[in-house]
Amino acid sequence: MATSSPSNPRRVVVLGTGGTISGRAANSGDNIGYTAGEVGVADLLGGIEAPAGVTLAAEQVAQVDSKDMSFAIWRALALRCAHWLAQPDVAGVVITHGTDTLEETAFFLQSVLAPRKPIVLTCAMRPASALSPDGPQNVRDAIAVAATPDAQGVTAVCAGTVLGAFDVQKVHTYRLDAFDAGDAGPVGYVEEGEVRRVRDWPASEAGAAFGRLPEDEAAWPRVEIVMSHAGASDAVIRALRADDAAISPLRGLVLATTGNGTLHHALEAAALEAQEAGIAVLRATRCTQGRILAKPGDKLRDAGTLTPVKARIALTLALI
Ligand code: SIN
Repeated sequence: MATSSPSNPRRVVVLGTGGTISGRAANSGDNIGYTAGEVGVADLLGGIEAPAGVTLAAEQVAQVDSKDMSFAIWRALALRCAHWLAQPDVAGVVITHGTDTLEETAFFLQSVLAPRKPIVLTCAMRPASALSPDGPQNVRDAIAVAATPDAQGVTAVCAGTVLGAFDVQKVHTYRLDAFDAGDAGPVGYVEEGEVRRVRDWPASEAGAAFGRLPEDEAAWPRVEIVMSHAGASDAVIRALRADDAAISPLRGLVLATTGNGTLHHALEAAALEAQEAGIAVLRATRCTQGRILAKPGDKLRDAGTLTPVKARIALTLALI
């Protein structure tokens, strides 16, 4: 539980980026036919009581359906998080976000900031206009985590569960409890405004990398994801390498592999050719749990526990 006194004011800053949590439908019974990113973050805080001794502030950083998340928004978000966390009276930052790419933003922010204070992403599966929206409780829980004195690193809070940035994954298309942390399990739970932690917070590290992020979206290294599947071929990799109309040349490839890092032989041959030609290639498993266990003689690097979308971010950042 957050503790504070008037001489030790604690602020939690809530940054809005859009998503279903700020979505609106034409009628309250409609939980899927809504437009994401319509309600401002200040309005999302209406009616939410802050924990004792904590004050809230709101800032709109973006207003998008998170399927359209971009490097430009990620950079802006990283800069705003760094700005607010540097203020001595700020205990932590909450980010309201769409569920669809929440795990990517969480991974990105933990990778580039690894903050000593908490950044807590939260979301909703039902729009703000729903008869019984889940957003307000999720925001309240996220604020409780952000105000927890020993909290650190980037986490996500949904349906009362706190998940680490490297582990969190959307696993359900409709249920309110749509996220999971795989083998790692949750960091903890929020129960009636109290955080019950069962694992360490995500690690904080000195030397955050956000200062090096390119301002121009086109300057970010282009890394594409190609999936291996029954009947796969070399066609996608060849097309990507030949794509002269692309805004920037292909710099990296993440291969969404079957099982323990295996690839269709035709895709593997094209990937090895790409690697020979200087394109960075990384294998990440399609399986939602487990990791790739490296084998002697592997010719293509693997991303361990990272999912393909997170491996793409890791490779992009490594190429910057
Ligand atoms: C989005 O990701 O912005 C839309 C879907 C959602 O938030 O559940």
